[in-house]
Amino acid sequence: MPWRPMTVADLPPVFTLACAIHVDFFEALEVMADKLAAYPAGCLTLETANGDISGYAVSHPYARGRVPTLNHPLGGLPADADIYYIHDIAIDTAARGQRHAEAVVELLAARARAAGFREMRLLSVNNSGTFWSRRGFGRVHDELVDVSSYGQDATYMRRFL
Ligand SMILES: CC(C)(COP(=O)(O)OP(=O)(O)OC[C@H]1O[C@@H](n2cnc3c(N)ncnc32)[C@H](O)[C@@H]1OP(=O)(O)O)[C@@H](O)C(=O)NCCC(=O)NCCS
Repeated sequence: MPWRPMTVADLPPVFTLACAIHVDFFEALEVMADKLAAYPAGCLTLETANGDISGYAVSHPYARGRVPTLNHPLGGLPADADIYYIHDIAIDTAARGQRHAEAVVELLAARARAAGFREMRLLSVNNSGTFWSRRGFGRVHDELVDVSSYGQDATYMRRFL
């Protein structure tokens, strides 16, 4: 599998990729570095056979009913972390459609379950809801969360592990 642990040296190319893919959801390189430092086991880099960095995943334990504010450092993990949160999975357009995203979702799910979590959660943006629902995520209807830093189209979703 071309997914490997993210390193500090990966941050500049990952940041460049994130800026190109998430034009409406800017996060500073320092914020990415904070998330890598907070939970390195949840940050993965997709390095394809030719050595290109073609995608990344950022995830970490978090608390149900809250979402991290976009472009703000986590400043460590919350003491009441009770769910596993996927902050972002993004693949370069040239590397899409090869099941890289599907593979990393299943990898993160297995690791989260092994770490004792029984739910993964995320905010779906960029019309990616169908992708997530095919990966077993459903909309969280019974909790209000502040999604305002991601735009009003963001959808809070969960998958039981
Ligand atoms: C969403 C994303 C990560 C998927 O990456 P990918 O590697 O192309 O996905 P996969 O090859 O694993 O696709 C698996 C399946 O999901 C479908 N799929 C992929 N992207 C999709 C999308 N944006 N919307 C709906 N379905 C999608 C594929 O067609 C495939 O469908 P199938 O199971 O019927 O064959 C990629 O499109 C991306 O980087 N988007 C921009 C960033 C983004 O919005 N990330 C999500 C933030 S919440």
